[in-house]
Amino acid sequence: MSICELFDLEEIRMIEMNFQDVSNEALLVHMLRGGSEARLLISQDEVPLAMAREDDGWKVVSFLWKEPSEELIESLPELDIKVYTCDTETYREAVYDHFSRMMLQELEPAMEDVPHDRTKKVSDLVWKEWNFKPGDLCYDCCCGSGVGSLALSKVGMRAFSFDIDGSLLCRGLKQGRLQTYSTVQMDATKASQYLERAHFALMLMAGDIGPGTSWVWQAIFEQVLQLADHVMVTVGTKEEAEQLRAWSEAKGRSSRVFENPRDKFYDRWVLVAD
Ligand SMILES: C[S@@+](CC[C@H](N)C(=O)[O-])C[C@H]1O[C@@H](n2cnc3c(N)ncnc32)[C@H](O)[C@@H]1O
Repeated sequence: MSICELFDLEEIRMIEMNFQDVSNEALLVHMLRGGSEARLLISQDEVPLAMAREDDGWKVVSFLWKEPSEELIESLPELDIKVYTCDTETYREAVYDHFSRMMLQELEPAMEDVPHDRTKKVSDLVWKEWNFKPGDLCYDCCCGSGVGSLALSKVGMRAFSFDIDGSLLCRGLKQGRLQTYSTVQMDATKASQYLERAHFALMLMAGDIGPGTSWVWQAIFEQVLQLADHVMVTVGTKEEAEQLRAWSEAKGRSSRVFENPRDKFYDRWVLVAD
């Protein structure tokens, strides 16, 4: 469902311009101005999810990852408010869908970059290595244009995908490997601030992990470890995989490195951490 549908409105403009804005509390001040008509979206357990206010059209602010400010709460009794309810997951998906659609309007998709047989090889690897149930959530971390997400959906897992590169995400969305409601442009070094822990997280083709870049990949990898109980990462070289193993064990996770016979190039070395 879209944010418009959840508020039963024809058109809205989000105060947040992109996903990075969702935790920016300074934006709440925009809701102190406007007309007297307002709509509040709350969860089934009455947690505020978002607010719409008439102001030459309807503007909406999200309360996911930021709480309504005291000033805003104090201003509510003066407004003519209608309350709408939905479950938090439906609203969260509507937020991701909104920002993905904005990204598709604003960015040029990257060139198609996925070899035709890679998805099958990744699906086989996931199928062999993980014991999962149909519908289990798996993060596709640093997903690029979404080959991992498609492979996860082929084996019956539910992918949630994120990457910092919007043009790669747009390519994945256009090809149908990524879905608007389960994709977000996000810096992976902050992932655990926004995403709840899941059983599984996949990160394909991490790296290059070398002297100039290892600090960022360590930061990303440590976030991925925080996100999930079972983590699988692929890299190009044994040295990179061993580096991941050292980082993983330093965090108290049992890990294993092996060569993946299915793919001699893209996903050649695998680190599995539990
Ligand atoms: C080699 S590509 C692999 C893409 C995809 N997983 C695949 O296997 O096709 C590495 C990816 O990491 C992403 N990346 C690098 N730094 C990132 C960060 N800080 N946050 C999120 N994504 C990042 C890049 O944008 C790129 O898509």
